[in-house]
Amino acid sequence: MPEDTPRIDAPVLADISLRINGTEHQLTVDTRTSLLDLLREHLDLTGAKKGCDHGQCGACTILIDGRRANGCLALAVAHDGAEITTIEGLANGDDLHPLQRAFIEHDAFQCGYCTPGQLCSAAGMLAEAREGWPSAVTARLENQGDIELTEAEIRERMSGNLCRCGAYANIVPAIADAAAR
Ligand code: FES
Ligand code: FES
Repeated sequence: MPEDTPRIDAPVLADISLRINGTEHQLTVDTRTSLLDLLREHLDLTGAKKGCDHGQCGACTILIDGRRANGCLALAVAHDGAEITTIEGLANGDDLHPLQRAFIEHDAFQCGYCTPGQLCSAAGMLAEAREGWPSAVTARLENQGDIELTEAEIRERMSGNLCRCGAYANIVPAIADAAAR
């Protein structure tokens, strides 16, 4: 084997740029690195949580170009040039996001482990509803503009975010309250 042949187990690196919570980052990443690991292990943004690392719990939810996504399933290299928002970037300085205020007012968390994912997911979900995206429980599937976020709509649309403390009874009204604002 020629000396310069790469070992097949050597990491493959790629240069990418990401705008994360308004700050540009030029990064060299192992192409196997998930966005969740990049944020948590390399950039000290530990708000997004690793629950299952398999796309099943939603604890790692972040916004990629404004759309909610599981950071554990998103390879960083596949999102070169993307705009990423994490829970650390949801507030506007000291001015909390309406969802954050509503979660506090409704006591919508217990241990808080799922909360960053719930909040980022809810932010993405509210944008989807504003754009008229239907869900499995939407009565009429044609685009009707603003979707009415009933309890059934909120529960269905947030079903990818699990809460092991079972705080759903307060999470749902918190989101409804923020949506109404
Ligand atoms: S850690 Fe990503 S979905 Fe559970
Ligand atoms: S508040 Fe504990 S997992 Fe949701």
